[in-house]
Amino acid sequence: MITLFDPKTDIDLGTPARESDVQVTLNIDGRSISVPEGTSVMRAAALLGTTIPKLCATDSLEAFGSCRMCLVEIDGMRGYPASCTTPVTEGMTVHTQTPKLATLRRNVMELYISDHPLDCLTCSANGNCELQTVAGQVGLREVRYGYEGDNHLDDKKDTSNPYFDYDPSKCIVCNRCVRACEETQGTFALTITGRGFESRVAAAGGDNFLDSECVSCGACVQACPTATLMEKSVVELGQPERSVITTCAYCGVGCSFRAEMKGDQLVRMVPDKNGQANHGHSCVKGRFAWGYATHPDRITKPMIRQHINDPWQEVSWDEAVTYAASEFRRLQQKYGRDSIGGITSSRCTNEETYLVQKLVRAAFGNNNVDTCARVCHSPTGYGLKQTLGESAGTQSFDSVMQADVILVMGANPSDAHPVFASQLKRRLREGARLIVIDPRRIDLVDSVHARAELHLALRPGTNVAMLNALAHVIVTEGLLNQAFIDARCEGSDFARWSELVSRPENSPEVLGAICGVEPADIRAAARLYATGGNAAIYYGLGVTEHSQGSTAVMGIANLAMATGNIGREGVGVNPLRGQNNVQGSCDMGSFPHELPGYRHISNEVVRAQFEQAWNVTLQPDPGLRIPNMFESALAGSFKGLYCQGEDIAQSDPNTQHVTAALSAMECVVVQDIFLNETARFAHVFLPGASFLEKDGTFTNAERRISRVRKVMEPLGGKADWEGTVALAQALGYPMNYKHPSEIMDEIASLTPTFTNVSYAELDRHGSLQWPCNAAAPDGTPTMHIDEFVRGKGRFMLTGYVPTEEKVNNRYPLLLTTGRILSQYNVGAQTRRTENVAWHDEDRLEIHPTDAESRGINEGDWVGIGSRAGQTVLRARVTERVAPGVVYTTFHFPESGANVITTDNSDWATNCPEYKVTAVEVSRVYHPSEWQKRYQEFSDNQHRLLDERRKARGTKAEVRR
Ligand code: SF4
Ligand code: SF4
Ligand code: SF4
Ligand code: FES
Repeated sequence: MITLFDPKTDIDLGTPARESDVQVTLNIDGRSISVPEGTSVMRAAALLGTTIPKLCATDSLEAFGSCRMCLVEIDGMRGYPASCTTPVTEGMTVHTQTPKLATLRRNVMELYISDHPLDCLTCSANGNCELQTVAGQVGLREVRYGYEGDNHLDDKKDTSNPYFDYDPSKCIVCNRCVRACEETQGTFALTITGRGFESRVAAAGGDNFLDSECVSCGACVQACPTATLMEKSVVELGQPERSVITTCAYCGVGCSFRAEMKGDQLVRMVPDKNGQANHGHSCVKGRFAWGYATHPDRITKPMIRQHINDPWQEVSWDEAVTYAASEFRRLQQKYGRDSIGGITSSRCTNEETYLVQKLVRAAFGNNNVDTCARVCHSPTGYGLKQTLGESAGTQSFDSVMQADVILVMGANPSDAHPVFASQLKRRLREGARLIVIDPRRIDLVDSVHARAELHLALRPGTNVAMLNALAHVIVTEGLLNQAFIDARCEGSDFARWSELVSRPENSPEVLGAICGVEPADIRAAARLYATGGNAAIYYGLGVTEHSQGSTAVMGIANLAMATGNIGREGVGVNPLRGQNNVQGSCDMGSFPHELPGYRHISNEVVRAQFEQAWNVTLQPDPGLRIPNMFESALAGSFKGLYCQGEDIAQSDPNTQHVTAALSAMECVVVQDIFLNETARFAHVFLPGASFLEKDGTFTNAERRISRVRKVMEPLGGKADWEGTVALAQALGYPMNYKHPSEIMDEIASLTPTFTNVSYAELDRHGSLQWPCNAAAPDGTPTMHIDEFVRGKGRFMLTGYVPTEEKVNNRYPLLLTTGRILSQYNVGAQTRRTENVAWHDEDRLEIHPTDAESRGINEGDWVGIGSRAGQTVLRARVTERVAPGVVYTTFHFPESGANVITTDNSDWATNCPEYKVTAVEVSRVYHPSEWQKRYQEFSDNQHRLLDERRKARGTKAEVRR
């Protein structure tokens, strides 16, 4: 799929599509066409293949009618109406090309050009500028007005944004950027100041783009028809020559992009208007933060060493995998079959995670495989499987456009799932009502033209109490959808659940005190959710990363079933997955107890299918989860780890425990693009490939499988799946794939929900949402429509059990954590981009009351101590957090956010309780002891890496 422009799908039809059952027939330049009622004359003409010149119109934005370039003549209508703002009517006769129209258009164009620098040959948009194109279309041959009068040619450029420039001298004040920021992004950062000749685009809230409210999503750049708003990369490298459609490798929205290339150099990433998850929109990460892929820190040669205090030695791929394989076999001989294991990554493709779990089960001969989803959404898998029968969200993102009430719980979409947040905000502007349940005042609570009707700022750790209180109101106030429950759910389970939640101890009056929320607000939220029309729940890690994470997920599913808000558009239970392929890594059998498709390893029939296909005998018992691997390592029975694309030393809780476990292992093999925190404890480093360097698929939060396409060769010589294949071969287990499509064919043959998935089908459909099989050959956008996957929906009991992590006099505050828009998880990628312009350190948010009582001011260094450890951050004093609660992001390793988090975890899945840590905070003047040790260790590892550079070309001599 290499194309720069697909005329069938990329053509700009001028105004957005309209949906209507009523078709209207009209005549344009002697040809007849029927279009849905509400369609503009401009769009109807474009659908006929007739180009009407336009400047202020584009089909991603509502028509504005300001440029007067698209004038037409319509029989029976006076004057020359703008075709972009004129809707079609039955029997209308339109003329798009007449001598009068040609003169009018030329005159308008002449005025534009008279205040435009005519430097087309040296302009960054040359060859891709709509003003240039329209000048050609209208046949402009001369400009009668010179530059003598007032003009804007000397207006100063704003180059403050790290990714795009604003050159006002080229602005034609078409308003497209302003409308893109409003309609597409929902930030409302731009405005047109002044009137008439004085009209100029301005970014609100600052003197320039960087300091303004702009979140750098790129929608305005995309919409600008001239070079006024232009990517710096295009200014520097010139216009691209070809493009490849691929999928963003950051968050679980899974935006589709055109990687626009010049030779083998990436010039820019442009959101794909045909992308089924993003519809042509993007955020700052996917759109601009791809520079990490060619950052000088990339390690592109395999390396080995015997001890972690030895310098690294560069070796060939063959030597590296042979060494790793011999070490793994040595460890198994010495310590037993189960002494080694593997970790798959939600950043890698489905095909890659499938191969890693296959390697562990088939070549290691055990089930010691786990994934980073363990530490984020494993409770989603468990909770939804128990209640609904499938470990996945129930809807498409587009479903939110049918929602009347939106309940966001423990999620922060505008920072963590920005493109979905833009869609959600659009629905709020259309009138949907919003409930936010979150300890923190996230942006959605009070954003421009989108406010939460209710914000229940509950105390961290009380989600289940809140869900039970909501359920209490729904049951006791008669707000149940009894018909749905009777028809679709297990009666006895419902009876047990409703008896439990309706007890007085589960009333808002009792539980509200535990949650720290007014009972009246809980009652109002329950009534709104149950009676406000289509109600959809969106939740994130603020729900799952708790000691009762799985219980909370089940509580959410219970609410949806109790009110009949499941099984159609506009409703449902929607986990917002953190990473690009969290859904996929779970689907692919990354958990120790499940084979691909969530089938238990103890199931003999299923196991037999895999044994036959893989030509091995599989162990019937689940293997070790990540926390068990650490415990076993410290106990001396777990000695070797293959870790692909996952940085457990930074991302897992209780860092000191994790690093002690890694230090206790004898062979840690890390496959990554950078020498990450985990790789500093490694003995073998295999160079990873970025998403630009490989083929494969990602599965986003809507179960949507999208293609990842290689746009450049792997810098390290192998894509990650090829590295796994090489390791398997070295272990004596044959893997003979020539292309990831063959791996997907194997997945499809062994996974009932993937039966119809193939690269050919993905290319044909653009993307597919599983289940995709004989029963649903085109995929399944909405699940559980007529019946639940498990048959009848099952209400699960959700008694509230307070976390063991309690505040006391020594640790009186509760720390909770989250992400920020410009950075991504452990930050390995985004820290190596210009995104640091927005966020270059993690800070501790603290309420003014708590800050004042501790003598802490904005920007002070503060020590944060918990039962697990201590670290030091700078303070941000803000009312975003409630008194008694502090908050930080975790994007920088030296912040040590996970030095403080404890070993507490979800009772069902071991998902860590990142969101609740009792801490004390005090003003300090030095880094913590851990930070000093970290810096020393880190400096030493840099030195060992530098010594590797000096040793380049020497033969490896690392043998036991
Ligand atoms: S910056 Fe571009 S999109 Fe915005 S008004 Fe000027 S020309 Fe139009
Ligand atoms: S980059 Fe996005 S947020 Fe910033 S001004 Fe443009 S549209 Fe608005
Ligand atoms: S919303 Fe997520 S998938 Fe989309 S561009 Fe941003 S980071 Fe990438
Ligand atoms: S394109 Fe219709 S008025 Fe500008």
